[in-house]
Amino acid sequence: MDPTVLVLNGPNLNLLGTREPEIYGTDTLDSIRAEVETRARERGLKADFRQSNAEHELVGWIQGARGTAQGIIINAGAYTHTSVAILDALQAVGLPVIEVHLSNIFRREDFRHHSYISKAAVGLVCGFGAQSYVLAIDAMAHTLKSSTPAKRAHR
Ligand code: DQA
Repeated sequence: MDPTVLVLNGPNLNLLGTREPEIYGTDTLDSIRAEVETRARERGLKADFRQSNAEHELVGWIQGARGTAQGIIINAGAYTHTSVAILDALQAVGLPVIEVHLSNIFRREDFRHHSYISKAAVGLVCGFGAQSYVLAIDAMAHTLKSSTPAKRAHR
C-alpha cells in the first residue's frame, strides 16, 4: 500500500481564494487539495488532506497519525506562531514533518518570523503560493525514500 501523508491546514485557510489574494494568491483550498492529491499519486503517496480552524482538532489529527500515516505536511496558519500544543503533538508522534506556508513568512511582520512548528520539522517550504504544497509533497517523497524509520524518529 502507498505511504499516507497527512496534509494539515490550520485556521482561515478555508478562506483561500478570497482571503488577502495579494498575499495568498487566488487558488482555493479545494484546488490546492486537487493538486496535492495528484502530485502525491505521481510520487507513489496517498494524501489525506484536511483543514480545521480549531487547535484541538489539529492536535487530535496529529495524534491519530501515529500508526495511520507515514509523514505529516502542515500549514498551521497563525498557530505556527503561537501553538506549543501543536509542536508537542508533532514531536510526540515522531513522524517526519514538513512545514508549509503559501507566503514567505520571513518577508512579513516580525511576529511571523518565529515558528514553533519548525522545531519539529525536517524542513520548511514557504513563499511559493499553492506550489509550496506541491514542493512539500516532492520533499516528503524524497524524505520517506531516503531514510529508515529509525533514522527519521531521531531527527
Ligand atoms: C500562512 C502564514 C501565517 O503567518 C498566517 O497566519 C496564515 C497563513 C501562510 O500559508 O502563508 O494563516 O501560514
